[in-house]
Amino acid sequence: MKNLVLLISGRGSNLQSILQAEREAAWGVCVRGVISNRADAAGLDVARAFGVPTQVIAHADFPNREAFDQALAEVIAALEPDVIALCGFMRVLGAAFVDRFAGRLVNIHPSLLPAFTGLRTHARALEEGVKWHGATVHLVSSALDHGPILAQAAVPVLDADTAETLAARVLLEEHRIYPPAVRALLEGRVQIDGLRTRIRPASDSPL
Ligand code: GRF
Repeated sequence: MKNLVLLISGRGSNLQSILQAEREAAWGVCVRGVISNRADAAGLDVARAFGVPTQVIAHADFPNREAFDQALAEVIAALEPDVIALCGFMRVLGAAFVDRFAGRLVNIHPSLLPAFTGLRTHARALEEGVKWHGATVHLVSSALDHGPILAQAAVPVLDADTAETLAARVLLEEHRIYPPAVRALLEGRVQIDGLRTRIRPASDSPL
């Protein structure tokens, strides 16, 4: 059985979408744990509601990024993950961490990458006047928000949009595209060629 570990920092709605999809479609994986870098992350309650073990590794308890990454990596490695899904995990992971788990680390980013890497993606999309915005599931590489893309979904930017209404519309798409991408990675259906990926469909998966 494949092992899945999920990292969060906050609300945990993407975490919920993955745990729900896994439960509904019986992926046959072991969700080994949810780790948060913040003790007050609401997503910890989401994990508990699904009966998933939780751990908090507070970045604030470490003297620097390397020490935090190292501690996090040790805890994750002990869970023997096949896939580590970042679900709104708001810390940049250093190259040593990324290299250690290369090919197994996946993230959801709230923009159509490579546009709008980094933070405040919805506000920046409005400022730039783009007519389409969206979400991207990608493998994590040491270049921030630049790993091979597994899935994307676009939403139109509406005249009346604020950053909040746009974020809400994008979030619905995040919840739709992230679970099948995580599942494909767990099931070894992702083929990678440079930055391009090809995903073989599962018989009952929307990808
Ligand atoms: C999502 O918009 C995700 O794309 C971004 O952070 C947000 C996390 O939301 N990386 P949630 O914690 O999954 O509800």
